[in-house]
Amino acid sequence: MTAAEIRTHIDPMRPEFADQRSLILPALRFAQREKGYLTLDDLEAVAEATDLTPAYVEGVATFYDRLYLRPVGRWVLSVCVTLPCMLRGCDELIDHLCDRLGVPPGGTTEDGLFTLQEAQCLGACDRAPAIQVNAEDMLGPTTPEEADRLLERLREAPAPDAYVR
Ligand code: FES
Repeated sequence: MTAAEIRTHIDPMRPEFADQRSLILPALRFAQREKGYLTLDDLEAVAEATDLTPAYVEGVATFYDRLYLRPVGRWVLSVCVTLPCMLRGCDELIDHLCDRLGVPPGGTTEDGLFTLQEAQCLGACDRAPAIQVNAEDMLGPTTPEEADRLLERLREAPAPDAYVR
C-alpha cells in the first residue's frame, strides 16, 4: 500500500481529529486491509501519510494486538487470559485449541486457516472464558466442545474481509 493511497483514505477524517496523531490507527488498519498484515514498507507508507516517524508508527503497530506484522491465518482466535477468564478455564480452553489445531499460542496452522493467540481482557468478562474471532465475533463462555463446533463452522465459512482481522 502506498502513502498516497493511505492519504486518500485518511484525508476525509482529518477534521474529526484534533490531534492528527490519532489518524495513525485508521491508517494502519487501512494499510493492513490489503494483505491482512503490515510489512515494513506499509509502516513507512503510514509514517509518510501521517507525518509521523517510522519508529512511532512501529511503536503503535506493535502495541495493538489486532495489527499484525507477520502473516496470520484467515481466522484469528484470541483467547482471553486475564484473571476472570483464567478463573473460568481459559487455560484448559487454550490447551484444547492448541491440541486441535496443532500449534502453540501465537502459531498459525499449516493450512493458513487459523492463528491462535492469547489476549488480554476482551471486555467480555461476563462471558468468561471469552474468545474472539478476528475483530468481530465475541463468544463465551466457551467450553472445549463449543470451541470444536466453532472450528468446524469456521472451516466451512467464506473468507472474511481482511480489514476486520
Ligand atoms: Fe476475559 Fe475480560 S477478563 S474478557
